[in-house]
Amino acid sequence: MTGKIEVLQADITRVAVDAIVNAANSTLLGGGGVDGAIHRAAGPQLLEACRQLGGCPTGQARITAAFALPARFVIHAVGPVWQGGGAKESDLLASCYDQALALARANGCQSIAFPAISCGVYGYPAELAVPLAVARVSAFLARHPELGRVVFTAFDDRMLDLYRRELK
Ligand code: APR
Repeated sequence: MTGKIEVLQADITRVAVDAIVNAANSTLLGGGGVDGAIHRAAGPQLLEACRQLGGCPTGQARITAAFALPARFVIHAVGPVWQGGGAKESDLLASCYDQALALARANGCQSIAFPAISCGVYGYPAELAVPLAVARVSAFLARHPELGRVVFTAFDDRMLDLYRRELK
């Protein structure tokens, strides 16, 4: 049985999965967008846990507990800022997905939810990021079907449509 990929138009802080992925910045000390929503929903202990981590380089991910969130873990992935495509942005974004999936597996997760990493403040074109995200997740699930469920959470209709078209 290969793992299932789903798309939900939802606030990721409300998705009932083992791990939710945060689109963080390299300080891991919170911010706006999905980062702000996750920290608000998890409560102040999340920031305390992140402080212990001492930041995270772009393209990498770190895992913490999820505290007041319904999930068990938060995986903080630091996506690239879009600079036109010539600064290895696609490699760095792919690495975020790969590392988040590996951390979820290493921590026994059977389900994980992703936001559209870098597609907000960081300006990564969604029509490039969505196919990349789907390709990385599909490749991982083919190797590790025990990660039974991956949910892409779209926060608006446009993103929902992009994910749906890519997954057809
Ligand atoms: N649930 C799901 N998706 C969300 C939510 C939410 N609650 N809030 C925002 N999004 C979507 C945005 O619409 C966008 O498609 O998540 C995607 C990522 O957008 P950002 O949150 O802006 O993240 P990113 O582009 O990776 O920029 C990261 O923003 O918040 C700061 O601290 C963060 O500096 C970092 C930067």
